Amino acid sequence: MDGYRHLPVLVEEIVQFLAPQPEGIYVDCTVGGGGHARALLEAGAGVVLGLDRDPRALAAAGEALASFGDRARLLRADFRDLAAVLAAQGMAQVHGILADLGVSSHQIDTAERGFSYIQDGPLDMRMDPQAPVTAADLVNRRSEQELTEIFRRYGEEPFARRIARFIVLQRIAGPVTTTGQLVEIIRAAVPTTGRGHPAKRVFQALRIAVNQELAALESLLEASPSLLLPGGRIAIISYHSLEDRMVKESFRRAAAPCRCPPDLPECRCGAQPSLRLLTRRPCVPTGGEQQVNPRSRGAKLRVAERL
Ligand SMILES: C[S@@+](CC[C@H](N)C(=O)[O-])C[C@H]1O[C@@H](n2cnc3c(N)ncnc32)[C@H](O)[C@@H]1O
Repeated sequence: MDGYRHLPVLVEEIVQFLAPQPEGIYVDCTVGGGGHARALLEAGAGVVLGLDRDPRALAAAGEALASFGDRARLLRADFRDLAAVLAAQGMAQVHGILADLGVSSHQIDTAERGFSYIQDGPLDMRMDPQAPVTAADLVNRRSEQELTEIFRRYGEEPFARRIARFIVLQRIAGPVTTTGQLVEIIRAAVPTTGRGHPAKRVFQALRIAVNQELAALESLLEASPSLLLPGGRIAIISYHSLEDRMVKESFRRAAAPCRCPPDLPECRCGAQPSLRLLTRRPCVPTGGEQQVNPRSRGAKLRVAERL
């Protein structure tokens, strides 16, 4: 697919942590344009199963990985269904799982996908173009209270209520159908602070809500330990604090699952750890990588190993 643009983030770190082996099967849950998958295959991974819910990403990955033949297998799927996807492939457990969360540069830069607050386009934001709910559906149909909740929860937007009120008032005149219209409403609602683009947090919030990103991540985190072979590794790159917190807490719970009250002298619940943390603090891109790829800023990689 011509012109698919996305520079993969923290590639060397991913290859080092997943340490691909010729007999190993690795799942790239977010194959995108195939950048990470290619690096894993070049480093010797036996098979990479690449998933994405965006058919345009899969088309690009198909071209990028064609030279690896049968070693690169691509599937349109949501990683929230990872356990079922692997079962259907006859893969009970794998050697590595990678998820590079969020949207690709290509999705953001394609105006008609509606992810961008810089370019005007339809208010869509679906990664899977057949998903039932668009950003316009949320913006035009949800109550002021519900919109406030979405902006607060998924965007940590300090002016959530005010923006929701402005939207609800504006849509009396007619539905909000474009990203440009939404940006104008947000601009009118919030004071200019000079701290980044005023629509950034609302767009993030809508994108997360439309694609149910946190629910998908939660399912992935819950299913992954039992889908890894002993010694297998899971690597997750996140781009905002909500996701990173979920990954950190989930890995910590799996690494120290004891739920006994802290004042008990010894563990009585008997829960066994399933993961070992390989990154106590998240790995972040070097200054050099951030310069070459400004969108890598904010990326945080956490890795754990199946015990
Ligand atoms: C940051 S990009 C990944 C880029 C990729 N690592 C590369 O090297 O090109 C994220 C990709 O994950 C996909 N995606 C996000 N959430 C998903 C989910 N729950 N299931 C499947 N794919 C998902 C998006 O459609 C997008 O193509």
